[in-house]
Amino acid sequence: MTEEILDSVRSKYGAVAESTLSNNDAGVKAVAEAFGYSAEELTSIPAEANMGLSCGNPTATVHPRPGEVVVDLGSGGGLDVFLAAKMVGPEGKAIGIDMTPAMIERARANAEAGGYTNVEFHQSTIDNVPLPDASVDCVISNCVLNLAPDKSAVFREITRILKPGGRLAVSDIALKGELPEAIAKSMAAYVGCIGGAISLMTTAPGCWLLDSNMWRSWIAAQT
Ligand SMILES: C[S@@+](CC[C@H](N)C(=O)[O-])C[C@H]1O[C@@H](n2cnc3c(N)ncnc32)[C@H](O)[C@@H]1O
Repeated sequence: MTEEILDSVRSKYGAVAESTLSNNDAGVKAVAEAFGYSAEELTSIPAEANMGLSCGNPTATVHPRPGEVVVDLGSGGGLDVFLAAKMVGPEGKAIGIDMTPAMIERARANAEAGGYTNVEFHQSTIDNVPLPDASVDCVISNCVLNLAPDKSAVFREITRILKPGGRLAVSDIALKGELPEAIAKSMAAYVGCIGGAISLMTTAPGCWLLDSNMWRSWIAAQT
């Protein structure tokens, strides 16, 4: 089942990565602005980094500082990576992780077009991140955890890669109630970010749900 989910998600987002969707489309721009990006932020990065796939602005929450290392789990075309890259500056680094080859290709093309020297993109699932222990100051993720079949493994990886005192900001879709069975079992609803969403009625260790649309978890102590 896990492999079937990963294949379906890769297939759906691979097709999006190969589309012409960009911040130059009024609808795409409007979606991003509705979810908290300013027009200035969106025009400061390559237009093709925004495909209207976000559901919040985690970089604005985590406030990366100059010199820090930021990792974006499920980085898509690199929208949040490029915003973070500006904030951490030349002494810092912004790293995108995504399992879909076409997304990585698009993000790297955007990095090249934008002349970024402090960004990297790695192809990987987010439950097995190819980064060393305690090497990251901030982890961000934008509308991706709902798509991950093994969410506990993703949180273990976040805990592993964050430095002591590191910060995490996640924007995602969460459920306020039970899904109807037909939707809960639908692969289309899963790849559309609904079927795999975490329920607001469940809690995970070390995780505080702050409001109905966006949840943030701050890992205070590392093991
Ligand atoms: C809804 S899009 C969000 C993209 C980006 N965060 C943004 O806001 O524009 C989900 C992205 O996560 C990636 N993704 C989904 N599940 C993943 C997983 N288990 N491991 C790594 N990447 C994943 C997809 O390939 C896709 O690029």
